[in-house]
Amino acid sequence: MELFLVEGGKPLTGSLSVQGAKNSVLPLLAAALLAGGTCELENAPQLSDVQGALDILHFLGARWQRQEECLLVDTGCANGYRIPEDLMHRMRSSIVFLGALLGRQGKAELSLPGGCDLGPRPIDLHLEGLRRLGVAVQESQGRLICTAPQGLRGSRVTLAFPSVGATENILLAACTARGETVLTNAAQEPEIVDLAGFLNAMGAKITGAGKSTLRVEGVKKLHPVAWRVMPDRIAAATWLAMTCASRGRICLNDFPAHLLQGVYPVLEEMGAKLRLEERQVFLAQEGRPRRVKQLRTMPYPGFPTDAQSVFLAVLTAARGTSLIVENIFSDRFRPVGELLRMGADVRVEGRVALVHGVRQLYGAPVEATDLRGGAALVTAGLMAKGTTVVQSIHHIDRGYERLEDTLTGLGASVRRITQ
Ligand code: UD1
Repeated sequence: MELFLVEGGKPLTGSLSVQGAKNSVLPLLAAALLAGGTCELENAPQLSDVQGALDILHFLGARWQRQEECLLVDTGCANGYRIPEDLMHRMRSSIVFLGALLGRQGKAELSLPGGCDLGPRPIDLHLEGLRRLGVAVQESQGRLICTAPQGLRGSRVTLAFPSVGATENILLAACTARGETVLTNAAQEPEIVDLAGFLNAMGAKITGAGKSTLRVEGVKKLHPVAWRVMPDRIAAATWLAMTCASRGRICLNDFPAHLLQGVYPVLEEMGAKLRLEERQVFLAQEGRPRRVKQLRTMPYPGFPTDAQSVFLAVLTAARGTSLIVENIFSDRFRPVGELLRMGADVRVEGRVALVHGVRQLYGAPVEATDLRGGAALVTAGLMAKGTTVVQSIHHIDRGYERLEDTLTGLGASVRRITQ
C-alpha cells in the first residue's frame, strides 16, 4: 500500500509545464480505433487511467508502445467488440469506447458503468443519442449489447443536459455514419474541441466544436494521424489552488490561459494576483486566502466540478465563510469528512457546502475517496501544521502524473512511501 506524507507550511514556488489532459487522452485513445492504423499521441500523460484505456485497446486487438511522452497506438488489427466487466470497471470513463466501437465495428458489448465515487453515473443520454443514430440497445444482466442493424445513420440529436461523455460518444459514432448528424445542447468543454480536432485530422467532417451545436457530416473512412494532447486544465487548476493555499508563486508554462476562464475570478476573490499571457499563467498569493462568497460548479466555461474539491480544501483555511454549490455530481463533497479530521469546519447539506475558514489545519491520517478528493487532501496537507498521511493514493495516480515529484520540484515536502 502506498501513502503520501505531506509536511505542511512550505510555499510552492517555481514554474512547470502542465501534463497532457487525462480527460482528453482517454477519448482520443478510443477514437484511435476509428483510424485502423497507427496514431501517434504526443504529450500523453502516464496515468493509471491511461493504462486502463490501453488495456482495453490491447484486449480489442490493438498494439501500443510508449516512446517517452509519445504513445503509438496501432488499431489495424483491433477487431474485438466486447469489453469484459473488469476492464470496464477499472475506469468509469471507459464508456467512451461505446461510440468508437460502434463507429468501427457497428457493434459493441460492454458493461454498464453503474455508480462510482461521485455518485450514480447514468448513461441514458449516451444511449438516447446513439439510438437516434440507428443503434439498437439491449440490456441484460448489467451488460449492454449495442448493434446498428442497418448501419449508423446521421440524425438530429438534442441532449437534455450537455453531458461531456454523451457528446463524445455521439461524435465518435457520427463520424462514419451515413449522412449528417446535428447535435444540439452539446458539451462545450475544451476536451470536446481536442477530440473533434483529432477526428477532423483523421478525415472526419465536424464543425461547431466548442459551441453548443455540433454538425458532423459522415465520411466513409478515417485514417491514422499524429496529434498532441491538450494540456490538463484540471491539473493546472490544482497547481494554482495549491499555490494559493501555500502562499507561494507559480508560473504555468505552455498553458493556454483561456482554458481556466471560469477559475480566475475565484482565485482573484481569494486574494491571488494573476498575470495571464496567451500561453502562460502567473499566480502569486501573499497572506492567508480570503473567503469566496459563492462558488458554483457549472459546465464549461463555468467553474469546473473537477476543481471544486481542491478549492474547497483551500477555503477551509481561508479568512471568512464560503458557500459552495455543486451542480454537476451529487457525491462531490466526500472528502469533507476527511478534512474535518484535520480541523476543518464545513457543513454539507445536499449540493451545498458552507465552509467556515479556520486559522489552522492540523496534519492527520486521512483517506482519499476519489481522484480530485485525494488532491484536496494533499492541498489541505500543504497548509496544515505537522504531517498529513494520505492513504489510498491510487485514486490520485489515476489523474496526476507523479504528483509528489511535481510538488517536491516546487519546494513542497511530499513523499510517497510504501507500507
Ligand atoms: C466528464 C469528465 C469528468 C467531469 C465531467 C463534468 C472525463 C473522462 N470525465 O465526465 O472528469 O467531472 O465530465 O465536466 O472526461 N448525466 C446523466 N445522464 C447521462 C450522462 C450524464 O444524467 O447519460 C449526468 C451525470 O450524472 C452528471 C452530469 O450529467 O450529473 C454530467 O456528466 P457528464 O458531463 O456526462 O460527465 P462525464 O462525461 O461522466
